[in-house]
Amino acid sequence: MYDNWEELEKSIEECKKCKLCNNRNNIVFGEGNKEADLMFIGEGPGADEDKQGIPFVGKAGKLMNEAFKGLGIKREEVYIANIVKCRPPQNRVPEEAEAVACLNYLRNQVILVKPKIIVLLGSTALKNILGKEYGITAMRGKWIEKKGIKYMPTWHPAALLRDENKKIEFWKDLKEVANNLNKM
Ligand code: URA
Repeated sequence: MYDNWEELEKSIEECKKCKLCNNRNNIVFGEGNKEADLMFIGEGPGADEDKQGIPFVGKAGKLMNEAFKGLGIKREEVYIANIVKCRPPQNRVPEEAEAVACLNYLRNQVILVKPKIIVLLGSTALKNILGKEYGITAMRGKWIEKKGIKYMPTWHPAALLRDENKKIEFWKDLKEVANNLNKM
């Protein structure tokens, strides 16, 4: 673990810890306020993110941006990262070995940011951060507190593109997050 961003960012530059390195154009490290109270964790970069090296800039990112706007949150105020930092082929779910290889980078990011709230976007984020026993359908919208951090699991924005009803729940969960943040 590194106690500063420079060393952490340098340590990942040539990462070859898993096979996702073979096809990447860019490592999508994460972006945003490095002292944010609120952090978002997604699954992994898609094609647009891989091209630009920035998380959530494609279709799912547009939804995130709309949500931020609706909540009165500026995107640059929060910190955004993913379970894996290189794009899985065809946007498949990251394999166990890929997630495990990458997770220490994310853990280090969480330690440095010190967020009060982490929104877990979808099943991959939930299972890799809080444990395989958790399911997103049962857990979304419910706070889970661990080691002084409050976690809010919700749908991954890509799921909203496939199911309109999930939009309502996603919005409700993020409203709950914004309300809590305002009280902190
Ligand atoms: N989906 C994710 O989970 N992360 C991104 O950065 C983009 C799409």
